[in-house]
Amino acid sequence: MPVFHIRTGLFALTVLFSLTTCTQEQNSQPAAVTVSSYNTSLSVQEIMALVLEPAADILWDSGGWILDSTGYRELYPTTDEGWDYLQAQAAIVVESGNSLALPGRAEDNDAWMIFSEGLSQAGVNAMESAAARDEEAFFQAGAQLYSVCTACHQAYNPDINNRFGNEEAD
Ligand code: HEC
Repeated sequence: MPVFHIRTGLFALTVLFSLTTCTQEQNSQPAAVTVSSYNTSLSVQEIMALVLEPAADILWDSGGWILDSTGYRELYPTTDEGWDYLQAQAAIVVESGNSLALPGRAEDNDAWMIFSEGLSQAGVNAMESAAARDEEAFFQAGAQLYSVCTACHQAYNPDINNRFGNEEAD
């Protein structure tokens, strides 16, 4: 089976190459990549649990402030490394939006795509505000992110929101 895949891959590359050389005379746009080149073996559930939620949790744990037995504490990073790390987590959120929109994962070509795009946009806002060390904008991006998560869950899997709610209350 792996040999078969490698041959298919080579074949696709050859076709792509010929297409590119054919079209080069008319315009210099590269030929479109075929759908079969996406690896969608991770389920939506796995993307949520293994990719998106860990990154989003780090963003949420790094914005705003808390008041506990030790007093008032700001959660924002205090070093460049800290902000750079948040930028990287936000980048994971941006790309998770693209991953969810791939054929084979997207549940429809309608609201699902809008939520996926909204996810990426919230991630971009978090990246930009982390790069600018803008605490207020970073906090707002976190709130925007949270509302995209809950809106999509409400539409496609309302049980998830109940679980979220319980975690928050703990
Ligand atoms: C485009 C829609 C969409 C967006 C946006 C979305 N989710 Fe989900 N999420 C789902 C769906 C659908 C499921 C149910 C998957 C399943 O169990 O098959 C799910 C399930 C989950 C689960 C449960 C995973 C498990 O182990 O059962 C978690 C946790 C989760 N999402 C977190 C998040 C977080 C955090 C965000 C935002 C940062 C988010 N999701 C944004 C659609 C979305």
